Amino acid sequence: MKTGRVDLRDVQSTMLVTLYLRALESRDANPILGDRFAADAVRRIDYDWTRLSKRSVTNSRYGVALRGRQLDDWAADFLSRHPDATVLHMACGLDSRAFRLDPPAGVRWFDVDLPDVIELRRKLYDESGNYRMIASSVTDSAWLDEIPTDKPGLIIAEGLLMYLRENEVRELLKRLTDHFPSGELIFDGVAPWMAKATQLLKKNFGRWYGDYPAYWTPMRDESDVERWNPRLRLREHVALVSRYERIPDPGLRRMYGLGSRFGWFRNFLRVFRAEF
Ligand SMILES: C[S@@+](CC[C@H](N)C(=O)[O-])C[C@H]1O[C@@H](n2cnc3c(N)ncnc32)[C@H](O)[C@@H]1O
Repeated sequence: MKTGRVDLRDVQSTMLVTLYLRALESRDANPILGDRFAADAVRRIDYDWTRLSKRSVTNSRYGVALRGRQLDDWAADFLSRHPDATVLHMACGLDSRAFRLDPPAGVRWFDVDLPDVIELRRKLYDESGNYRMIASSVTDSAWLDEIPTDKPGLIIAEGLLMYLRENEVRELLKRLTDHFPSGELIFDGVAPWMAKATQLLKKNFGRWYGDYPAYWTPMRDESDVERWNPRLRLREHVALVSRYERIPDPGLRRMYGLGSRFGWFRNFLRVFRAEF
């Protein structure tokens, strides 16, 4: 069934880009992520996808796939050790992680995003006993009251923290680590030069940059997460560019391979795993 015409703005529109890129990557012969749910969702959403089918956008599909793959692997590892965990998937967009991972029966999973995103998500996916969607900004406080406090928490933030202000990140992380007895936070972060570049582009080339928001909170170094919240201890971090051998497109593989030799480029998009 089709969803009806979709016209999202501001930060909400960014999840159409990541969805489209995952759908595109799933068509590769040996995909890194292979998100068939994304391909199905793109078919069902009435949106002018040709707006995203330019190389300047599609070249990012392997960055998005590598990020999703690494976060999936860390999430699966956590759930194998905590088959009764509570998962908080913040800024879920239309991501199918809850279905891709097929979590153990004892896991309770909450997908959270802004109201217009969840309204669209409900047209694509159904809730079930252990799977729920919450329509709220993560910076509001009330939504967390719905989440059980008694089990270890797996907190996922993919494509979220960079859009918040640092004080919002700190407040959010404090509320989360106060909420669960223990758990892990897995998330991605952009380099400071990326944040600066988006702010400058947004300010000076707004028409070209479009509706997308700038990044406000980059990762200066991997210990930032411990500075944001002293209860968090960094366990691991991965520069996605360093995984360039997995990229099937020879031109993009070469580009990422070359870029991985330079620290500033290698760190433009990283994923982090912290525990508490
Ligand atoms: C780049 S998209 C990533 C979506 C998804 N994680 C993915 O990888 O496809 C950013 C998402 O963050 C959500 N978002 C941004 N600010 C938010 C907030 N304050 N509360 C909840 N969601 C937010 C947007 O609505 C959007 O779905």
